[in-house]
Amino acid sequence: MAKLSAAILGPTGMAGQQFMPFLAEHPYFELKILAASERSAGKSYKDAAKWYQEKPIPSNLADMPVVSMEEALKKAEVDIVFSALPSKVAEGWEPKFAEKGMTVFSDAGCFRDEPDVPVIIPEVNYPHLKLLKIQQSKRGWQGGIVKNPNCTTVAAAMALAPLRKYGIKRVNLASMQAVSGAGYDGVPSMAILDNVIPYIEGEEEKVEYENLKILGELDESKGEVNLLPAVFSASCHRVCTINGHIEALFVEFENDVEIEDLRQSYLNFTSRPQELDLPTAPKPPVVLFDDPYRPQVKLDRNLGNGMAASVGRIRHDKDKHRIKLIALAHNTVRGAAGNLVLAAELALKDGLI
Ligand SMILES: NC(=O)c1ccc[n+]([C@@H]2O[C@H](COP(=O)([O-])OP(=O)(O)OC[C@H]3O[C@@H](n4cnc5c(N)ncnc54)[C@H](OP(=O)(O)O)[C@@H]3O)[C@@H](O)[C@H]2O)c1
Repeated sequence: MAKLSAAILGPTGMAGQQFMPFLAEHPYFELKILAASERSAGKSYKDAAKWYQEKPIPSNLADMPVVSMEEALKKAEVDIVFSALPSKVAEGWEPKFAEKGMTVFSDAGCFRDEPDVPVIIPEVNYPHLKLLKIQQSKRGWQGGIVKNPNCTTVAAAMALAPLRKYGIKRVNLASMQAVSGAGYDGVPSMAILDNVIPYIEGEEEKVEYENLKILGELDESKGEVNLLPAVFSASCHRVCTINGHIEALFVEFENDVEIEDLRQSYLNFTSRPQELDLPTAPKPPVVLFDDPYRPQVKLDRNLGNGMAASVGRIRHDKDKHRIKLIALAHNTVRGAAGNLVLAAELALKDGLI
């Protein structure tokens, strides 16, 4: 199979650089273009990037040139685009790439609430990728836009997916979010060291809406997703960890549930990316812990190369139709680049790109 050519928009930042290890030697995609702001255009990648990962920049990518956005669009010689631009910047650029026939897999928050734009976690809602075809016929594009959820949404939606069949009525969520989620310059060290910040602007609204959209069902005749008919209430907090968002979830079901049934649902949970044996698919996608001291951010964020979510401490909450649990996912891998690379792998295998 010939590889699809790929570009990254915003590869020098915190989220964008996470694509580099995934794409350095990817069996389906070949990185051809890196595009960022005028600050970086004309430099080599290694000179432009604020690299903060433990492993060095992949040696075959370190000297790639970074070009301006205008130049990247003018060349328009790639099949797919990964975007990690700030939302306001992405709003202007992403549709231009989609119009020119490229499918944009994007980390940026813009367009997530548009009815024909899929917000994808491949194991949870892969049928929503069919919205790409609806987008094309509605907007007259050859390409399209696929969105990553907010990084806090990811742990919750992956933890809730195996439980959907029990009839979720209400979810309350309290997050403890790592500083990397705010970007490299996001939270000053003097503000976060020795501290917990009880407010993250705009976060709760995103987490509440996106979970209901991702856990909802695609209605192809309407060309949109019917939101999960449940109440979702989030309280989001920034804590002093670097990577890995951990969340306490309180879930109410239509009927009584047995903890052992829920355990089995996690242990048996698998999905299309695993069945297709996609290169970035973790096996299993959700790791279940019985040890009440797990999952822990430091010990468990890198499970499945950072692609597996984990859950633990599943217990009843006062009565048998309510439970509590802890969920964890790596915010800059599963909550960003890794999730989008997996979505692109799936879209390719399903003939959507
Ligand atoms: N951090 C996370 O964990 C995370 C997780 C999921 C999603 N996201 C989303 O990913 C996006 C990027 O976040 P980040 O944390 O990586 O931010 P960041 O570290 O500030 O990086 C921003 C990137 O966008 C580029 N950029 C900025 N302004 C530009 C412009 N006018 N034209 C072209 N390129 C421009 C920057 O290039 P220069 O280096 O040239 O300035 C850099 O590559 C945001 O939409 C964010 O919400 C972040």
